[in-house]
Formats: sequence, C-alpha cells, structure tokens
Amino acid sequence: MRSFSKLLTVLVFASIRLALCGRAYMEGDRVKLYANKVGPFSNPSETYQYYDLPFCRPPDGLEHKLETLGEARTRLISRCATIVVDGNRLIVTPYDLSFRRAQEHAVLCTKNFDKKEVQQFRKAIREDYYFQMYYDDLPIWGFIGKLEKEVVSNSPGDSHLKHYLFTHVHFDIAYNGQRIVEINVSTDPAQVVDLSEGVVSDDSAVPAEFTYSVKWHESDIPYEKRMDKYRRYSFLPQHLEIHWFSIINSCVTVVLLTGFLATILMRVLKNDFIKYTRDDEVLEDMEESGWKNIHSEVFRFPPNKNLFCALVGSGYQLVALSIFIFGLACVGVFYPYNRGGLYTALIVLYALTAGIAGYTAGSYYKQMEGAAWVRNILLTSVVFCGPLFLMFCVNNTVAIVYRSTAALPFGTIVIITLIWALITIPLTILGGIIGKNTRTEFKAPCRTNKYPREIPELPWYRNAIPQMVMAGFLPFSAIYIELYYIFASVWGHKVYTIYSILFIVFLILLVVTAFITVALTYFQLALEDHRWWWRSFMCGGSTGLFIYGYCFYYYLARSDMGGWMQTSFFFGYMACVCLAFFIMLGTIGWRASLLFVRHIYRAIKCE
Ligand SMILES: *[C@@H]1O[C@H](CO)[C@@H](O)[C@H](O)[C@H]1NC(C)=O
Repeated sequence: MRSFSKLLTVLVFASIRLALCGRAYMEGDRVKLYANKVGPFSNPSETYQYYDLPFCRPPDGLEHKLETLGEARTRLISRCATIVVDGNRLIVTPYDLSFRRAQEHAVLCTKNFDKKEVQQFRKAIREDYYFQMYYDDLPIWGFIGKLEKEVVSNSPGDSHLKHYLFTHVHFDIAYNGQRIVEINVSTDPAQVVDLSEGVVSDDSAVPAEFTYSVKWHESDIPYEKRMDKYRRYSFLPQHLEIHWFSIINSCVTVVLLTGFLATILMRVLKNDFIKYTRDDEVLEDMEESGWKNIHSEVFRFPPNKNLFCALVGSGYQLVALSIFIFGLACVGVFYPYNRGGLYTALIVLYALTAGIAGYTAGSYYKQMEGAAWVRNILLTSVVFCGPLFLMFCVNNTVAIVYRSTAALPFGTIVIITLIWALITIPLTILGGIIGKNTRTEFKAPCRTNKYPREIPELPWYRNAIPQMVMAGFLPFSAIYIELYYIFASVWGHKVYTIYSILFIVFLILLVVTAFITVALTYFQLALEDHRWWWRSFMCGGSTGLFIYGYCFYYYLARSDMGGWMQTSFFFGYMACVCLAFFIMLGTIGWRASLLFVRHIYRAIKCE
C-alpha cells in the first residue's frame, strides 16, 4: 500500500512537469544523447524503438535510461510520465556530445549492411521515417533519409526511386554558462549512402560510414526559457498557423444565430403563456392543442432509467474532467511533444472525478424512483470505461503485433488497472451511496397520469434520427474549424498551444448544444410528443456523431495516415472520444431541457 501511494504521488506530480533544477556541466562532461523513437512521419501513433533499425549501436551494449529515486527527483517524475504512457523508450546512443567540445568530423561507426538491413532501411526511407532524440531533456527531430525520383533519360516516363540514407548528422548546441539551453540537429543531404535497388547488388554488403559534427554556441537564453521555443512552433516541416479570423468568425456567426433563434423561441413562448392563461378564463370549451395538453405526461420518467442515469452521471463527470483539464492547460502544465503529461493527467483526473458520476447517477436514479441502485452504480462505472477498455485491448494487441513502442508495457497496464480498481470504483460506489441517501425530490410541477396518453401521428422528420441531424448541425459548425487544428496536433505533428481559444470554443459548444436541444424539445412538446427525455439526450449528444463523421473526412482527405495500426488507433480511439462527447453533450442537452420543461410547466400552473 505504501509503495502504491508513492507511485500515485509520482503519477500525480507527473502531470505537473517541473523544469526546475537543470544540470550544470563542466567543460568536457559527458552529456548523453538518448534515442527515443523512429517511425513513419504520417503515422504518429506508429512508433518503433530506434535500434529496431540497424543504426550504430554503442560498443558496450544498449543502455536504457532508468534513473533511480536517488537521482534528481523531478527528472524522474517527468520521465516517469513520458515513459509510462507515451510509448517513449530512451536508449543511450554512442554520439559523444561532451559539454563544449566541438567536433569537426567524428566517426560514429562504420557498418556493412547485409541484404536484410538494406531492405529494412529502404522500407523506412520509403515510409518517410523520422527519428526523435533527447539531449539534456530537450527533444530533437530529424529524418533518416530521403527518397528521390530519378527519371531514366533514355526511356521517358520510366522513373526510378532512389533511396538515400543520411550518414552525417550535425548538432548546433547553445549553452548559457554551465547549462545547455538549445540544440538543433540537421542532416547533410550531400552525405548519403545510396541504397536504391539496382545500385546495391543483392549479395554483397554495403559499406557505410556514419559521422557527425558538433558546434557549440554561446547564448543568452535563460535556462528557464529554453522550453519556450517548443511552444511556439513545430520543428517538423509542417507549421501550424492559427487562423484567428476564421475561428472568431465562426464563433460570432454561431452566437448570433443562437441569439436569433432564442429570441424567436421567447416570443413563441410568450404568446403561448398569454393564450393558455386566457384559455382558463374565456375559451373554456375551445379545443386545445399544444404542449399544455400533455402536462400530465411530460414528467413521466423515461424507460431504461438505469442506463439513463448512468449516462447522465458519466456526463457530469466528463464535463468536470474537461474543465479541470482546461484549467491545467491554461496554467501551462502541458508541453507540446509531451503527451505523456496530458495522458497521465487524464487518467488520474478521471479516477479522481469518479465520485461525481456516482453521486449524480445515484441521486437522479433515486429521484426517478429506481430500486436497483447497485446495478445502477455498476453500470455508471462501466458505461464509458467499458468501451474504452475494450478499444484499448484491441489497439494494444495491434501495437504488440507491430512490435511498436506504442504498446503499453505490462507494468503500466497494471498501474492503470490498479488506479481503476482502487480509486475509480470505490469513489463511484461512495458517490452513489451518498447520492442515493441524500433526500432530494424530483420537483415535478405537474402530476403524472397513471396511463400514458397516445402520441399523435407525426411526420417522418419528427423522428429521432432526423431530429438528431438537425440538433448536431449548429454545435458542430461552431467547432468545425477548431477541430482541424486539434486533429492536426493530436494525429499529426503540428503544435497546438492556444488553450484559451479552445476553452472559449468549448464553452460556446456547451451553450449552443444546450440551446438547440431546448428549442427542439419545445417543438417536440408542442406537437404533443412527450418522449423528450431520451430524445433530448440523443439530440444533445449528436454532435459526437458529427465529430466521428469528421474523422472519416480527416482520415481520407486531410492526412496521409495509413497502415493497419495507425488506422486502428485513429478510428478506435476517436470512437471513444466521440462517445465521451456524446455522453457529455447529451447530458448538457438533457439538463438544459429539464430546466426549460420545469420552467414552462411551472409557469402555466397546472394542477
Ligand atoms: C536553431 O535554429 C533556430 C531556428 O532556425 C535558430 O534561431 C537558432 O539560432 C538555432 N540555434 C542554434 C544553437 O544553432
């Protein structure tokens, strides 16, 4: 138990990446360069260990970076986070980058590639592999080779692919006093070994000499600021410019549209109120129609209230989780390229907010006079986690088959399972018991009839699916532009750091969802269709389905992702994210509709 709590502390702090105590070096001190991963550029989830490719290995075997607790504690913490959830595996490389020791043309190693190794590199060059390394905790990137089309002169149209492997790496390192503040890496396009088919005969070994050079520059960048450049731009060729104008433009349009519709709805409601109060006095025998008629129906609890309450509970939890994550992001906890921190924060915060789900689900379930509260709690704890876990199992298996570093190690899976079993489940149960025992009444302004009234025949577009399409459209258009940036940074190499804009868009999304659901609920009730409980949930959540639709568009038109593994990661995890959006926005839609329905029926004073 003690070691577990220690582990937990480590994990909690891991989300807060501390860049405090930097190492001070003396001239000539060895600073290790760690290789982290290689992988196809267009498939960011598909990462492999650097030494899966036959690069120069250190003479005395591979050494993994594993710091003990005795060493700098904060480094361990931040490293833990990245190793555990980010698929990072740091291995020492044989480059000698000793502090302030320049190198003109150092030889790393000479190799003779056999047939198999040549093919490995050919494949990697064809798939546009990049490598990533860490030097004194600073990440660097580069490509391992280049592919060129060579047109064969005497037969036009018949081109031949040249595979060049870079053999020379140049490092520019900046130091400030005794500390390292910046590193740039570049590969020399002139120093290559040609691995093309035809050039390399299949039996003889291909000789290659790997070299590197190092230049040291004095700099006045303060040590504390050395991470800042990673926030500003991307180092891989794609550069992300946020189009502020288009984001603001879309937000304003959506807000105006919402306001416009809100005004109309208000007027219609006002007319209704006037009509209904007059009805009571004068027009007693005139045939009534409209939402007033079904006042004895609207507060009939929905079918499947067990599932309904479980979803609503999870929805509350996910809203809270998003707000916490935005809070952390806005104070600058997450660095681009350090997804481990974000994922750890998500896991830990999800576990810690489980009580909210339990409490809300338990409380609503009790209010709706549900009896099977144990089943309700169990359902609450798996309604989102269950699908997520299944998806994780599938994807992890795929990653293991691919021998990718994206496969989480066994230890991490154990830790996550422990967190789930020892924190999430008990908190859900505790919350559920508190929620069940807090006496709250469901304050329905009207009594409910014993026997449900028949629902009039309705045109097809009043059915659930057409209504959901209508409901999702406006909220989706509010986030549409933003989605591209998020996708490009999560499923590409772009950098996204403007969390405040993201937060504003998120709030707009919630407000627009709430509003549009209320409007649709009004029209539904006006036609005397009283099954608004599930309908408002589905309509609110439909934006999640729109986002999933956008995934297909992004995959096919905006990205170069390919291969089983990347495809399975992309569609699998996006399905979970969209499920989360569905539950969260559905909850918002239903809650807003409940407020609205209570309000209008209270106003007409039905008895
Ligand atoms: C690294 O590259 C950036 C951008 O090209 C440049 O501004 C900076 O001076 C370089 N740093 C070193 C140490 O060469």
